[in-house]
Amino acid sequence: MTLITSAILIGTSSNLLADEEIAPAFGGLDDVVYSENLWTEMVTQHLVGPDALLSTPYEGQPPHGAILDTVDTRLTLRGNEGEVIIKRNYDGEGVSKLTVANDPTKYLKAVTVMYRRAGYDPENQDWFWVKYKPDGSLDVDSNGVELAGRIAKGMAEGCIACHRTAPGGDYVFNHDRYKTTSNIPGAPD
Ligand code: HEC
Repeated sequence: MTLITSAILIGTSSNLLADEEIAPAFGGLDDVVYSENLWTEMVTQHLVGPDALLSTPYEGQPPHGAILDTVDTRLTLRGNEGEVIIKRNYDGEGVSKLTVANDPTKYLKAVTVMYRRAGYDPENQDWFWVKYKPDGSLDVDSNGVELAGRIAKGMAEGCIACHRTAPGGDYVFNHDRYKTTSNIPGAPD
């Protein structure tokens, strides 16, 4: 009897998912498509890809790569104009600021991006998070879920949980330029 009941419950919840399209926190179809559109626009703006403009490489800290370079600007996508922060993560044998500056493509391991989407995730400063591989395809987490969206909202680890501790309340470590007046519970001043 118990078994039958839970079977019905499972059936009901998956119907709900199909009918009402309850969005998962990240890795759902909408987020994956959005991240693909974002990559295409970033290529067009020379922010990623073979013609990307480079900033000076610097030494990073975990969990991002040994050497990093970060660019920070605004970008319009599907009518949303928001801040975008693009961090390229470099690693591999012989990696250094000089070798990366000389041949960035050789050492590029990942491209991690924060893009502000109005109304997307008000509790977390509306950031859309993505981890791309160097070719623009999406990286996946240990469960095979694609890393695009509100990563990993409500969980103890992941982009949101860690960036939440950044000073200024804007979830950005590097500066407080996007500091807002909104009151985020638990965020440092
Ligand atoms: C355990 C902590 C931690 C996690 C998890 C983490 N980051 Fe970061 N991130 C940092 C720190 C610290 C910095 C600043 C220092 C640096 O440049 O490495 C940073 C910097 C960044 C920046 C540059 C803007 C800034 O905050 O200075 C971006 C973009 C970024 N991370 C994206 C991501 C994405 C996307 C994820 C998830 C896929 C992620 N991060 C997961 C700690 C984390």
